Amino acid sequence: MLKQAKEWVIQAGEMSFEKSKQSLDITYKTSHSDLVTKVDKEVEKFLIEKILAHYPDHGIVGEEGTFEKDPDEFDTLWIIDPIDGTINFVHQQVNYVISVAVTHKEKGVFGIIYDPSRDELFWAARGEGAYLNEQRLQNTRLERLEESLICTGLFWNERIEKSKLLEMIYQLPKHCRGIRVYGCAALELAYVAAGRLDAYISLYLNPWDFAAGKMIVEEAGGVITTWEDAPLSYLEAGPLIASNPGLHKQLLSFIQRDL
Ligand code: IPD
Ligand code: CA
Ligand code: CA
Ligand code: CA
Repeated sequence: MLKQAKEWVIQAGEMSFEKSKQSLDITYKTSHSDLVTKVDKEVEKFLIEKILAHYPDHGIVGEEGTFEKDPDEFDTLWIIDPIDGTINFVHQQVNYVISVAVTHKEKGVFGIIYDPSRDELFWAARGEGAYLNEQRLQNTRLERLEESLICTGLFWNERIEKSKLLEMIYQLPKHCRGIRVYGCAALELAYVAAGRLDAYISLYLNPWDFAAGKMIVEEAGGVITTWEDAPLSYLEAGPLIASNPGLHKQLLSFIQRDL
């Protein structure tokens, strides 16, 4: 199943990359910054058709809602973000990915994140490790916050209202080496697994944004939890923090100190 899924995800990525040069037919969902293109919908449809043709008894949770049945009816679920980083896809045609995870009875089975513009396939299977193409991944072991490169999706999130939260965001760059914001949560989680980033912090992500990334971070030896240090459920949206085990505790106390 993993081998097949990788092929479908790569095909979906190639399809998106080809179509990025055509008219994207952009529509808006909840706001002027919440975009969806016809390619998001076509990629989701492509993946769902492949999955259901081979695994008709599996359920699917996809961002664009093409599969309508209740996820609770299924033991095995595919959690799909057809294009994560839609704004990057529209503006840059880089820094976007296809993200697919499979869970069975709420436990991760495998996760795949494909960056078509760089031909990088990040993947992990439970108990088998995390990989970039065929190269084994391990996240960084760096423990000093002041030497760390931290990524966040916080800055533009409309859900930020609390002044203390803004203060925390303001303080963070003063305590680490640098901040990066790629605008593509799945890619950012893959980069934590690959050691290109030391940590990723988000105030709010949906299951399709983090499901594959969670598997890949964990299999690379990293930790991913809620801001209260609770385990992440594959089906619940919310805040999260992903990093190597040493930095994780420091970042949690940093967040909690300023909240
Ligand atoms: C978004 C990206 C972004 C994150 C947002 C997501 P989309 O996903 O992952 O990095 O900060 O919360 O909604 O809409 O491009 O699939
Ligand atoms: Ca979206
Ligand atoms: Ca997303
Ligand atoms: Ca998306």
